[in-house]
Amino acid sequence: MAIQLRSAAELEKMYHAGQVVHEVLNKLRAEVKPGVTTMDLERIAEGLIAGRPGKAAFKGYRGYPCVLCTSVNSEIVHGIPSSKRKLREGEVVSIDFGMEVDGYYADSAVTVPVGKITPELQKLLDVTRESLDRAIDKMRPGNRLGDVGHAVQSWVEQNGFSVVREFVGHGIGTKMHDEPNLPNYGEPGRGARLQEGMVIAVEPMVNAGRPEVQMRGEWVAETADGSPSAHFEHTVAVTSNGPWILTRPKEMTGPSW
Ligand code: MF3
Ligand code: CO
Repeated sequence: MAIQLRSAAELEKMYHAGQVVHEVLNKLRAEVKPGVTTMDLERIAEGLIAGRPGKAAFKGYRGYPCVLCTSVNSEIVHGIPSSKRKLREGEVVSIDFGMEVDGYYADSAVTVPVGKITPELQKLLDVTRESLDRAIDKMRPGNRLGDVGHAVQSWVEQNGFSVVREFVGHGIGTKMHDEPNLPNYGEPGRGARLQEGMVIAVEPMVNAGRPEVQMRGEWVAETADGSPSAHFEHTVAVTSNGPWILTRPKEMTGPSW
C-alpha cells in the first residue's frame, strides 16, 4: 500500500480532531504539579472529552487501558496512568493523547516539568522540542523522509543526547498508525519523497543517556540506563504552503510546543 494523500476536506477533518487533542493537552499541562497522580490526569482528560463527538484513540487499542499515556522520567513512551504514581517536584512527565473524530485521527504529545527541574532536564526538554520544530520544518513537498529523521538526529546528537530507535513516527489518517514509518534518524536525500496531502505524526523520543530501550511489562518502554527521556509529538500535513501542524490552532506560530 502506498502512502495516502489526503484531500483538503480530509485535512479539515483531521484539523478538527487535532484541535480537540490540543485543547486537552494544553489543559492537562496546566494541571501538572507535585502531588498530582498520573491517574488524576487521566480522569481530567476523560472529563474534558465526555459528551463531545469522537472518541479517545488509545483506549482499547490493542488492549491499551487508558485514554492517555503518561510517561514519567526514565519512561520513554506508553506509561500507564496510575493512582499510585504521584508526580514529584523535579520530575518530567510526557503526556500523549489521540482522538478519532468523524473517522479521522490526530495524535500529539508534550513533556512537562513538575515544579522546578534541573537545568540539565530543562535542556533535554528544549532540545527534544526543538528537534520536533526542525523536523516539522522539513515536512515540505519534494523533501524526503530521511531529511526529516536527520533533522531530529543531528540536532539531538550535537546536543549530547540520543534518539530512540525502537519507536518511530507514523502516517496517520483514517487509522492511527498508517504508512510510512518515520524513524527519528536518517540520511538526507534518502527515503520516500514527501508529497502534498501526506500526513505524519512526527514524534522524537530523546534519551539524556544511552539510546537503548527496556520494556516493563507489555506496554511501558523505559531507558535501559535509567536516564530521563522526553517526547514531543504533532500531527503534521505536507501542503504546498509548507508544513501544517494539525494539532494546534492555525493562528499559533513559533515553537511547536
Ligand atoms: N502516540 C502513541 C503512538 O503514536 C500512542 C500509542 S499508545 C497506544 O504510537 F496505546 F495507543 F498504543
Ligand atoms: Co504517535
